[in-house]
Amino acid sequence: MPNVTRLECSLCARRFEPRQIHNLCPCGGTLFVRYDLPAIKATWSRDALRSARPDLWRYLPVLPPQRPESIVSLGEGMTPLVRTHRLGAATGAQNLWVKDEGLNPTASFKARGMTTAITMARELGIRKIAIPSAGNAASAAAAYAAAAGIEAHIFMPKDVPQSNYIECKTLGATVTLVDGLISDCARMVAEGKDQEGWFDMSTLKEPYRVEGKKTMGYEVAEQFDWNLPDAIFYPTGGGVGMIGMWKAFDELEQLGWIGARRPKMIAVQAEGCQPIVRAFEQHASRSEFFQNASTLAAGLRVPKPLGDVLILNILRESAGTAIAISDEEILDAGRELASLEGIFAAPEGAACVTAARKLLADQFLKPTDRIVLYNTGSGLKYLETYSATT
Ligand SMILES: Cc1ncc(COP(=O)(O)O)c(C=O)c1O
Ligand SMILES: [Zn+2]
Repeated sequence: MPNVTRLECSLCARRFEPRQIHNLCPCGGTLFVRYDLPAIKATWSRDALRSARPDLWRYLPVLPPQRPESIVSLGEGMTPLVRTHRLGAATGAQNLWVKDEGLNPTASFKARGMTTAITMARELGIRKIAIPSAGNAASAAAAYAAAAGIEAHIFMPKDVPQSNYIECKTLGATVTLVDGLISDCARMVAEGKDQEGWFDMSTLKEPYRVEGKKTMGYEVAEQFDWNLPDAIFYPTGGGVGMIGMWKAFDELEQLGWIGARRPKMIAVQAEGCQPIVRAFEQHASRSEFFQNASTLAAGLRVPKPLGDVLILNILRESAGTAIAISDEEILDAGRELASLEGIFAAPEGAACVTAARKLLADQFLKPTDRIVLYNTGSGLKYLETYSATT
């Protein structure tokens, strides 16, 4: 980790030694990895990327492992950024793009966070991990743990998509189906970890998943030739991708690769679980636990995101917003995106289509704005959901 200088609490800025195992700061904040960006700037250039490997490890100088041989990779990242003319015409956007994360290993963007987190688990000598998950993070954790020879213990709500359950079992993980929400699964991991010797890989409770997710920000910048879009729609459950992209933009500016301009960051949630939308509308600095959370977009069923303060700050700093979409609208949008563009999206990603249409209609965005929708996973993971309505 020659380029890593320290870990730093994202809330209170307390510093931690990087070559040790950490979860949260005592204040409850997520730890961020900090790099010696001036030194990196002196030796790394955008041109060097022309010959870099075609996955997210092309950004190795700003990724956490000390030894390249620690890397556990299945070819994640560098997903297509697709210009969607027909969907654009249907939604009133002249310059609309979909970043299709469904093409990652295990068919979702969760592969990005897990390649870095499992890499660091291997580097730090961790033998057993445990994770609560709405489904896709579990599949990615199981895959990368298998590739690294690390034991994976997974806790998922019992109504998780079948594909995730079957995938995790086949990948050799120990799976517990829980009669409850992801928050109940998280409690079971927290209660069992000391006795079982598990490292807790929960969203934002370890420092390295954000590092993998931030590469979505590096990639969108690179794919647009270092000229960021005007708006980014991101389906927000735990919000790690949004937090990661925002960190990436900050690092890219310090590297001198982009300027100060930022996209409007737009958090898309489901009507049945919208803690961030509520908090944003109420001008609150943190969210309240969303009671009776329910939506078919499994990844958005996070009633109290741990990173709520960070997410809300990003929405405000970027002059973005937060918007909730109904389950019916989500499925209609999934069918529209599929039939107009050939992209079979996860419901979480499909929600962004309706969100964009609404924000264009009420003139929050201009028709000429360059807009990117993140499709965070493949619709193939959600066959029960789609088959119930086709
Ligand atoms: C397909 C999909 N999209 C979005 C999310 C939400 O991700 P984040 O925690 O980064 O907000 C998830 C989380 O499970 C997911 O599986
Ligand atoms: Zn702190």
